[in-house]
Amino acid sequence: MCGIMGYVGPQQAGPILIDGLRRLEYRGYDSSGIAVGNGTIRVQKAEGKIKNLEALLAEDPPTGSIGIGHTRWATHGAPTDANAHPHADPSGEFVVVHNGIIENFQDIKDELAALGAEFASETDSELLAHLVAREYDGDLAEAVRKTVALSQGAYAMVVMSTREPDTIIAVRKISPLVIGLGDGETFLASDIPAILHHTRDFLVIEDDELVIVTADGATIETISGEPVDREPIHIDWDAAQSEKGGYEHFMLKEINEQPDVITETLRGRLNADGTVGLEGLEFDDDYIAGLDRVWITACGTAYNAGLIGQEIFRRVLRLPANVEYAHELRDADPIIGPKELLIAISQSGETADTLAAARIAPDHGARMLAITNVVGSTLSRYADDILYTRAGPEISVASTKAYMAMLIAQYLLALRIGAARGTVDEAHARAVALGLHQLPRAVREVLSRESEVLAAAERIVDADDVYFIGRGLDYAIALEGSLKLKELSYLHSEAMPAGELKHGTLALITDGVPVIVLLTQRHVYNKTISAVQEVKARGGEILAVAYDTDTEIEKYSDTVMRIPDMNDLLAPVAAVVPLQLLAYHVARMRGHDIDQPRNLAKSVTVE
Ligand code: G6P
Repeated sequence: MCGIMGYVGPQQAGPILIDGLRRLEYRGYDSSGIAVGNGTIRVQKAEGKIKNLEALLAEDPPTGSIGIGHTRWATHGAPTDANAHPHADPSGEFVVVHNGIIENFQDIKDELAALGAEFASETDSELLAHLVAREYDGDLAEAVRKTVALSQGAYAMVVMSTREPDTIIAVRKISPLVIGLGDGETFLASDIPAILHHTRDFLVIEDDELVIVTADGATIETISGEPVDREPIHIDWDAAQSEKGGYEHFMLKEINEQPDVITETLRGRLNADGTVGLEGLEFDDDYIAGLDRVWITACGTAYNAGLIGQEIFRRVLRLPANVEYAHELRDADPIIGPKELLIAISQSGETADTLAAARIAPDHGARMLAITNVVGSTLSRYADDILYTRAGPEISVASTKAYMAMLIAQYLLALRIGAARGTVDEAHARAVALGLHQLPRAVREVLSRESEVLAAAERIVDADDVYFIGRGLDYAIALEGSLKLKELSYLHSEAMPAGELKHGTLALITDGVPVIVLLTQRHVYNKTISAVQEVKARGGEILAVAYDTDTEIEKYSDTVMRIPDMNDLLAPVAAVVPLQLLAYHVARMRGHDIDQPRNLAKSVTVE
């Protein structure tokens, strides 16, 4: 996701901004830029890596002791020089960097265009510069306030202007923003690590606050202009820790980011009545109504996410669906026709197997829809239709938040398909929409119950083998839980449908062998309990993931990881979280390299 930097003080701003942007690189980006200057403001920006920007600056160094900078992760418009930030209004006097999405950007753009405005980029962010310039009447903070009132969405925005050459104005509406307080100089960034080597005293800006930044410090107000009194915090972490937001590992940070990822993936796409608006899907309702089958293809965790889609498409939408490993599908000579949709799921959009399988679609005259996290990735370029997951950069090799976003994206897609085919009625869609909007809170609740996971981790840390069982959607979650555990802890683990246990694997269940059972699918609850009894009868240990209201499971289980009650269709979102944490804690207890497990790569670009 985008990174923001700002500086005002006695030093040259350019090198400080570049240094900060480098420290924000881990967030992922596709272009970068800075704006520097007191009297006049010069904007310099470049597509690609920061070294491209540095090459520009080396030729033509900026001068000035105030400036703002940005690394961009494309959302509106391709990663190009023109779309890179900062963006200026046509006079060049008002310059903006922005992180997030302006949801009503088209309305604003139409309004500005009707008044004759011309745009230098395809971004929503440029509109903010136009609006600030239009609203300016001698008070930059007031102009920013008015701009915020006109723009819906979640974002952080930072503004500088030749009219008030010693001041930077910043606003936070959900996207993160911190102020670093130096001695006669003030820094501003998307997160603490970018500026931790300059200062250890920070003001953390909260949602719907505006901050007026000068070399002498910062004044915080609410967006409506009420003063805010905030004590600075002093940071004791070291730089490596702080890059992880205070978490010991990126994986733990990313697990904890999942409530925000759900919000971000839903943002602007899901209405309360269950209707969805998915930018990037080019097909129409007639095409969906005429579909005979959906194929889903992916690898690893993305494949496990696809299993959830398969079950929802089949069971709820009554639409034939098949999920296939990409490396299998590509050589299987599958029978795919023009009335079939191939959905390729890939966090990176660069997995060679998935790219190869995705190419089957055009060969058979079928459409290919990419569900991916990376704007401009190869998969997105191959696709007829794109659904971005908006998880932000995922650093840990073992995928957690990207998986979560894949689930949410598929729920949205199912609502779209179900509406067009008439297989999801309005009342059902409304209920699912409500459930989806409540998921961030539910996941937060699960995250707060880490002690239950630690108790389970203690039980399996020394095991030789672990089994995961579940039925339907629970089976899909069992597979993901098992994959996470083996990736990180190097324990042998296997997942299977609960009903399959008695057809072979039961031979391996003896005294003390741990079996993790998922029990979120009420229509098959009793059948899963039968498998639990088979395990108990052989002396196996039961570790359960169950709803808060499930009292039955206590009769059989040795330990329970609880999730709040919810719609069974959405339960995978909550049920996977304790299993992610379980894998994390077992690996930590066993002293493994959590963010970079052995023999694994984040993006496998070979077939
Ligand atoms: C690798 C990673 C997995 C990932 C899989 C698919 O195997 O280690 O974590 O799930 O690739 O990656 P993708 O980027 O296509 O989702």
